[in-house]
Amino acid sequence: MDRFIITGGTPLKGTVRIAGAKNATLPIMAASLLCPGTCQINEVPDLRDVRVMCEILQLMGAQVERGKGCCRIDARNVAACEVPENLMREMRSSIFIMGALLGRLGKVKVSYPGGCAIGPRPIDLHLKGLAALGAKITEKHGYVVAEGKELRGSDVHLDFPSVGATENIMMAAVCARGVTFIRNAAKEPEVVDLQNFLNKMGAKIRGAGTDTIKIEGVTDLYPSNHSVIPDRIEAGTFMVAAAMTQGDVYLENVIAEHTEPVAAKLREAGAEVETVGEGIHVTARRLQAVDIKTLPYPGYPTDMQPQTMAMLSIAEGTSVVIENIFVNRFKHVDELRRMGAQIKIEGRAAVIHGVERLSGACVEASDLRAGVALVLAGLVADGQTVVDHVYHIDRGYEGLEEKLKKLGAQIRRVQEAR
Ligand code: UD1
Repeated sequence: MDRFIITGGTPLKGTVRIAGAKNATLPIMAASLLCPGTCQINEVPDLRDVRVMCEILQLMGAQVERGKGCCRIDARNVAACEVPENLMREMRSSIFIMGALLGRLGKVKVSYPGGCAIGPRPIDLHLKGLAALGAKITEKHGYVVAEGKELRGSDVHLDFPSVGATENIMMAAVCARGVTFIRNAAKEPEVVDLQNFLNKMGAKIRGAGTDTIKIEGVTDLYPSNHSVIPDRIEAGTFMVAAAMTQGDVYLENVIAEHTEPVAAKLREAGAEVETVGEGIHVTARRLQAVDIKTLPYPGYPTDMQPQTMAMLSIAEGTSVVIENIFVNRFKHVDELRRMGAQIKIEGRAAVIHGVERLSGACVEASDLRAGVALVLAGLVADGQTVVDHVYHIDRGYEGLEEKLKKLGAQIRRVQEAR
């Protein structure tokens, strides 16, 4: 296992290129199973989660070829419909396989994904949606089986605009007979990217990005070529890193509209955030406290909450952060406290009294975004910070330490001592 050793105190300066979005890549890779041909996906980030998804697709019978930044998936011989439990546990996103395999083979068996560090993550909305399309769902011995050779279009109303449920239902409905409506659908940009990929394959989907998605079932799908959108969470992470280190950073390959919820808060905190060409320029002096409420897109992303909390730990004044999406997403708080942050938790709310400086300490990444938040804290802390369990961070950030080093940060990766 690897750890990061960071010496804080250097403002980040320079240019960083943002990779393709992890959360768009994973469902798009799964969706390629729908088409009995070869799809090419570009701007694929080199991440642990992407490698796990490749492994799952191969086990299902697809041939997967990785090139630099791209991935070719030949799904002609896909025949297996059971995802082994160890891979389901490795990555929650393996759940996307359900909609795709059900659509392609009419049957899928996956183990029930357990809880995770950010709280319980049920799949009831996924299953209700698939059942509404006519799939027979059986849950036994920790496994879920969905079967339905002849899915039919339906009207699905989600109790909550779940990103994963919206994407799974979209995939299953592409080849269903008749028209499906998903109401109260998730509006995240990654849902729009999935729609665009599926439509290039010949699907007939309209409305992604709004709360009603209409899917007219088609009988045939064709191979397609697609470039994944830039990662708005990686971009947001670098924007926050630039602002909290009082740096001067230009981020290339960003869709400014997607990062606007973060940009608006950074401006409110006193940073300068400007769209320049195909990128974003961030500069800042000491930031002021701001309040944050996480919400579905276009609200403030829950995936930016831990990083933002690290930033607010050293802002001037008192901030309140309310986490509305995942009940247990405050695992980073104890670790930030070890570094001198003054944070109190009361239910879904965190109250942060900004301190002048954090101090370097040994801390542990409990999940992907909590882990990167500790790296950001290390960048501004006095002395040395050691972040253990970096494998969580590797799930979602391509070459994080190289990118930070290029911006002047003092960070290195070493093997964790046993
Ligand atoms: C996706 C993102 C994740 C992000 C999250 C919220 C991917 C691969 N992951 O996760 O990074 O943090 O959106 O923006 O895209 N829920 C239910 N029942 C369900 C499904 C969800 O109750 O069947 C609840 C969850 O427990 C959670 C909320 O809905 O409280 C949001 O979850 P959801 O939007 O589904 O997140 P994911 O798709 O898992």
